[in-house]
Amino acid sequence: MDYTNKNFPELKNDRLLRAALGKEVDKVPVWVMRQAGRYLPEFQAVRAKHDFFTVCRTPELACEVTLQPLRRYEHLDASIIFSDILVIPQALGMTVEMHPGVGPVFPKPLKDPSEIDDLQEDGAVSRLLYVGKAITLTRHKIEGKVPLIGFTGAPFTLLGYMIEGGGSKTMAKTKDWIENHTKDVHKLLRMLTRVIIDYLVMQVESGAQLLQVFESSADHLTREQFAVISAPYLKEIRNGVKTKLEEKQLEQVPMTVFAKGAGHSLDVQSQLGYETIGLDWTVDPVEARKIVGDNITLQGNLDPQDLYKTLEEIKELTINMVRKFGKFRYIANLGHGITPQTPLESMTAFTESVHEAV
Ligand code: CP3
Repeated sequence: MDYTNKNFPELKNDRLLRAALGKEVDKVPVWVMRQAGRYLPEFQAVRAKHDFFTVCRTPELACEVTLQPLRRYEHLDASIIFSDILVIPQALGMTVEMHPGVGPVFPKPLKDPSEIDDLQEDGAVSRLLYVGKAITLTRHKIEGKVPLIGFTGAPFTLLGYMIEGGGSKTMAKTKDWIENHTKDVHKLLRMLTRVIIDYLVMQVESGAQLLQVFESSADHLTREQFAVISAPYLKEIRNGVKTKLEEKQLEQVPMTVFAKGAGHSLDVQSQLGYETIGLDWTVDPVEARKIVGDNITLQGNLDPQDLYKTLEEIKELTINMVRKFGKFRYIANLGHGITPQTPLESMTAFTESVHEAV
């Protein structure tokens, strides 16, 4: 297939985009973070044959696993391109491996601020063109069934992985850098911000119809730190994407910010320019709406652990959640990614109940 032929099939289900833009919807749109993932046997079958980052780097494989959840769950109103937030540190020249049962591992994390200068910002986005190819191929193969979401990690979350060398419970090293190498931390956050803006614009050029920015490690930051370390860069990303799309005379796309654990800063988040704010399950929908006002869409926020309850309980919890959020400016989702052991029927119960609710 010629990926460069961008005459995409017409979009048949625009609930997600309508909700993100504050337009009326017939039903509440629903999708699930990590909907292409290990809870699906068909995903595991692909992973049994191919390394994680090989799947990310091979457009045909990335496209295939992106489409898998849509085949199984008719109620899904969106797809998210299969990739990972850590492809950016890779494009900057760092090695990242995915170890089964462990997660991402950087054999050589950043040990000293002087190593920031070794990162290869030049050409980083050109080394990520495989993500664009996967997006373009998926837009064709999806046949307009639902919109395709592009995504990135946010600067602080990426910096944390680059310094810790993988996931971390304490973020001890990152916190040490924030306190003792403050200027270097901001230098790296600025570099990541520049790369992220161009990376997201490339995703839109390739066919992404909505963009989500994952600040998944925001739960390590106090309200004061969030305002300094995360929020300014999230805002710059939103503005930067808008400006560059204008310059390139490309259509604007709505954007979502998901800052996990930053429910203490919804007032700050509502000033960043994003159309949608993603909420984790610790945030009360009614309280969140009061804080952000009526000009922003909310997304979330069922606890992923609730999908281990009985189907009856899942239905009840989901319907209660949708009633609390209401039909206006709302996208149903979990409050974080779906976890690997989740029973397949739980996803049916969740997605179906969203459409039945209100
Ligand atoms: O379906 C989708 O949501 C699209 C694909 C997607 C993946 N990662 C695939 C993946 C997306 C959007 C991500 C984002 C991502 N990656 C985040 C932000 C979202 C979040 O969960 O907070 C983060 C922090 C990462 C980094 C990452 N990748 C970690 C910490 C791990 C290990 C933990 C885990 O859940 O396994 C990964 C691995 C990963 N990324 C898997 C998948 C399907 C599982 C790995 C495997 O198949 O072996």
